[in-house]
Amino acid sequence: MSLRPLIVGSAARSAQTFTRKCRRNHRLYATEATQLANVALKPTIYGQPLTPSHPHLVKDGELVPGMGSQEYETRRRALMDSLPSHSVVICVAAQVKYMSGRAYKFRQDSDFWYLTGFEEPGAALIMEKDSSSRGYRMTLFHSPSTPSTAQWDGARTSAQDVVRVFRADNARPVDEFPDALRRVMAETDHVYVDLPPGGGPKRSRSASAKSLLKPLQYLSRSSQEHDTLLESLGGQKRRPLAPEVGRLRAIKSEAEQKVMRAAADISARAHTKTMRFARPGLSEHVLAAHFEYLCAREGAQRPAYVPVVASGPNALTIHYTSNNQLIRENELVLVDAGCEYNGYASDITRTFPASGAFTSAQADLYNALLSAQKQLVALCTARAGLSLSQLHHKSVEFLRAELTQIGFDLGFTGGRLNELYPHFVGHPVGIDLHESSHFDRQAPMQAGMVITVEPGIYVPPSPHFPKHFHNIGIRIEDEVLVGEEHPVVLSASAPKEIADVEGACQGLLGLEPF
Ligand code: GLY
Ligand code: MN
Ligand code: MN
Repeated sequence: MSLRPLIVGSAARSAQTFTRKCRRNHRLYATEATQLANVALKPTIYGQPLTPSHPHLVKDGELVPGMGSQEYETRRRALMDSLPSHSVVICVAAQVKYMSGRAYKFRQDSDFWYLTGFEEPGAALIMEKDSSSRGYRMTLFHSPSTPSTAQWDGARTSAQDVVRVFRADNARPVDEFPDALRRVMAETDHVYVDLPPGGGPKRSRSASAKSLLKPLQYLSRSSQEHDTLLESLGGQKRRPLAPEVGRLRAIKSEAEQKVMRAAADISARAHTKTMRFARPGLSEHVLAAHFEYLCAREGAQRPAYVPVVASGPNALTIHYTSNNQLIRENELVLVDAGCEYNGYASDITRTFPASGAFTSAQADLYNALLSAQKQLVALCTARAGLSLSQLHHKSVEFLRAELTQIGFDLGFTGGRLNELYPHFVGHPVGIDLHESSHFDRQAPMQAGMVITVEPGIYVPPSPHFPKHFHNIGIRIEDEVLVGEEHPVVLSASAPKEIADVEGACQGLLGLEPF
């Protein structure tokens, strides 16, 4: 029996493109990559991949993969231009986190990385708005290398390279940061800085200061000095930085859109191959591991979040992450998983039949949800002028109509639908999975925003709902780049139509499971 004619839409086209790319990459490994390997500086003299040491990752003219240093200059300039005269911006690198006595793989603070591209811990940024042609003065505090750190942890970027590569006006040892902070607090009118969460509203000024300096824990000063040092961090002058940076981060530049497309493509392919790999009898965790392996092999640095691999009724638990039960025949498997690639998260959910074909009840519910999801995606344009909140209201309206058509009695109030669809329609995504904390859900969506559109239906075994739908949970989640006139679905290469999903499960899209 051939199901080939059933393969339709973008997933089939994407599979062919992928096969061509693999062949090209294979040739690249044989020729260009060998040449690149031979010229690369090894061991590296930098604290992060840069072109001389990692030309296979960071191309000529790039500061981080996919982004030139001008991109960062433009961000900083846009931020400083938006602030009042005599403003100062202070941003501190993320803290190193430990488990079982060893450090986790370090992930830079998102706003710090957005403004600098600098990926080492033990660092801080001060930008002082001035009347120079650049518009501000940038000092990057970093942790210089010592013989001991070089031997145990490897290279750190030198002060000269911090200035040259990261375009700082000045690079100083991080030990000098507290004094510099005290000086700018005394001299300036507006200080934009975020204090790490914790401590509650009544925490003292010195506690605030300590929390700001915590990521820089190896500063050689005593903590008593810190206590007195930052009295000045109090009240009047301090403004939160995150909303200012959040406004800029909400609109993705062309370079960011490209990286996000690449991240979504990696995750979408991993979803497709995981559909092929899945079968009854496997444990959910095997699919999670397979997905993560596929992403890592394509260069993703880490998962963007703990994946949900929920088979059968486990899909009714929205944040199901235990992923430790066996998949049964004829169950649906809901996989909500995405990688972080070159600094940007991807976030995709697909739901597919473990045995390769939807039952008729599963197909009816899936098609109802898919129809609503596609109508929602179509509204993600600046021209439509909807806010994320309004999009959510639309999702409720569309789902009510679709579910009523397939036999649900949802009554006149919202309660029953709320039981079936208890979450919000989506969220902005970017450097962070949920770039929502300063996102205005009431403001019209603008071109260049990337949001998820992720309605779901989770039917509990309640007499209010048709029995044949009981215990089925389905979510379909895409990442959508809001356009002026048209939405762009960044996750388009993950199969979504029933024919494509079944084609992927049955191995008919030309993609191997590995
Ligand atoms: N995977 C988390 C979310 O969809 O928001
Ligand atoms: Mn998700
Ligand atoms: Mn999401």
